[in-house]
Amino acid sequence: MSKKLFCVFIVLFVWLTIASQSALARDVSLANNQILLTPTHGGDGSAWGQSNCSSCHVLRNIHKTVPAIKGIAQEVGYASCTGCHGQNGTNVQRECTVCHNSSRLPKSPLQHAEKNHNFTVAKDSQLNDANCLVCHDAPDMDGVFEPAVDLTHYKTSVIDLPYRSGTEFCLSCHNKDHQQAGFAMEPRFLRDPLVMMDKNYHYMDYHGYVDGSGQRTYAGLRRGNYKYPSMVECTDCHAMHGTHNEKLIVDRTDAGMTKLSGDVRLKPILIDVNQNQNGDYSQLCVTCHQMTEVIEQGAQDAGNGLAGVHQVGTDCRACHVHGMAAQTGL
Ligand code: HEC
Ligand code: HEC
Ligand code: HEC
Ligand code: HEC
Ligand code: HEC
Ligand code: HEC
Ligand code: HEC
Ligand code: HEC
Repeated sequence: MSKKLFCVFIVLFVWLTIASQSALARDVSLANNQILLTPTHGGDGSAWGQSNCSSCHVLRNIHKTVPAIKGIAQEVGYASCTGCHGQNGTNVQRECTVCHNSSRLPKSPLQHAEKNHNFTVAKDSQLNDANCLVCHDAPDMDGVFEPAVDLTHYKTSVIDLPYRSGTEFCLSCHNKDHQQAGFAMEPRFLRDPLVMMDKNYHYMDYHGYVDGSGQRTYAGLRRGNYKYPSMVECTDCHAMHGTHNEKLIVDRTDAGMTKLSGDVRLKPILIDVNQNQNGDYSQLCVTCHQMTEVIEQGAQDAGNGLAGVHQVGTDCRACHVHGMAAQTGL
């Protein structure tokens, strides 16, 4: 064999080896929304089932293309790996709160108060890693919340399609006929929203059933992207990660109300609906609603600096609760 031909052969061999490897190595990238490891890990699967990430990956060499993550992953170290990349075929506990806590990522998400969606009404306890994983199994950590990617996929009744909104995700559990194994709920009273929300939301509630006329006596919405008619999401009013209010009602605008105009939302406006425990939800309602033509209590401060709803200081529940078909409901 001539020397020249031999060189060509070597080059071809090296090229083929590299090409076949890169074909095997899966493309983990934010662009693909897929950062969980699979049984092909290592190219040929040789790294699947291994728990010691440090034996093959050097901290300072990884994540060069994701500056938002590089620093924090390096700081927290190898304890963080399975939080984002999954268990790699082992049974280690994936950790979330090593990063998502009030000192490292205080706003992502806000966990400033004692009540949260810990899957028990009767108990207030800090959210733990296992709780996070019930709702977020494969978040891509790109800094943008996307329901179809960042929430776990429970079937919504018969169909099994990616979520279009966070609300579809809530209703996959908060219903009567197709609850999820391990999260069964019994109604505590007639028409308990815990189990009736899918019906309420689609057929009764004004915030889910898109039919706002904007023609009612106290009509008017504050500046921002809430409009008549439109859909209001559960998490616009209920905080999953932290609030001091009963029933997980948001206690500050930057923890909900995503479509409010930025300056109002990020101020933030505080919301207290526990005062006197008398069912006065005016501080919640007034963050979005502001009557255009001011009548009755329309000019009265609800207690958080905003005005624009009627009946301030009284019990709203006689006329506005989930699933109420008479009066105006919720
Ligand atoms: C906060 C989430 C997060 C954590 C924690 C994390 N990674 Fe990543 N990792 C990513 C993302 C996102 C990518 C995809 C980067 C891209 O889009 O190019 C990635 C990519 C990688 C890659 C592919 C090549 C590269 O360097 O980008 C390796 C290897 C890797 N991670 C290893 C690790 C190891 C080992 C740890 C633990 C020290 C770890 N990761 C912790 C999010 C994370
Ligand atoms: C036995 C060595 C080995 C161990 C242990 C190992 N990896 Fe890997 N890993 C590799 C190799 C080889 C690749 C593929 C080549 C590359 O892209 O760097 C890879 C690729 C990756 C990728 C890119 C995605 C992919 O599937 O190619 C990520 C993310 C990753 N490893 C994370 C981890 C995490 C997290 C751990 C610990 C749970 C871990 N690795 C343990 C060898 C290892
Ligand atoms: C009951 C389900 C549920 C649980 C439990 C839960 N989350 Fe969420 N999370 C959501 C929903 C729904 C959203 C989107 C709406 C929102 O921001 O409230 C979200 C949003 C987020 C965001 C984006 C926040 C933002 O403001 O952009 C982060 C980060 C997050 N969750 C992390 C966590 C962590 C960490 C845990 C565990 C400590 C956790 N979540 C527990 C349902 C949940
Ligand atoms: C190494 C630290 C680290 C670990 C560990 C970690 N995250 Fe994150 N996560 C981040 C960062 C950084 C962001 C982007 C935050 C931002 O820009 O607002 C993020 C974003 C998110 C988001 C918002 C949606 C998105 O795509 O950006 C969710 C939801 C989330 N993480 C959930 C989790 C869950 C659940 C776990 C555990 C299984 C976890 N994280 C583990 C650092 C981490
Ligand atoms: C995996 C199932 C599941 C999902 C998904 C889910 N929940 Fe729940 N939710 C529960 C369980 C279980 C309880 C507690 C029931 C009990 O204690 O009887 C609960 C309780 C609640 C409560 C009452 C909490 C309290 O302390 O008073 C509210 C409000 C609520 N959920 C709203 C939501 C919203 C909004 C979403 C979507 C962002 C959601 N849930 C998603 C299962 C779920
Ligand atoms: C996150 C913003 C937001 C909050 C908070 C909010 N609303 Fe609304 N509300 C809306 C939007 C947007 C509509 C229009 C819905 C539609 O078109 O179906 C609406 C519609 C209504 C309607 C029906 C109006 C019509 O024209 O048919 C009533 C009644 C109502 N809200 C009462 C309340 C009460 C009571 C509260 C407090 C417990 C409240 N809202 C809290 C945004 C909000
Ligand atoms: C416009 C704001 C708003 C929206 C949107 C909203 N809720 Fe509510 N929700 C409330 C208010 C106010 C209460 C308390 C009513 C009462 O005291 O009876 C409540 C009560 C509940 C309760 C009962 C909590 C308990 O412990 O008794 C559950 C469960 C619930 N909502 C779930 C949901 C779900 C799931 C969605 C979305 C499908 C949703 N809510 C949408 C405002 C809202
Ligand atoms: C006695 C029953 C009753 C009580 C109590 C009540 N409301 Fe209403 N509310 C109504 C009726 C009826 C309408 C619709 C009027 C119409 O159709 O013209 C309404 C409309 C509203 C709207 C306007 C929605 C829109 O955009 O048109 C808001 C906001 C509202 N109420 C907030 C509250 C708040 C906050 C409380 C408690 C502090 C409360 N309401 C107590 C009966 C009541």
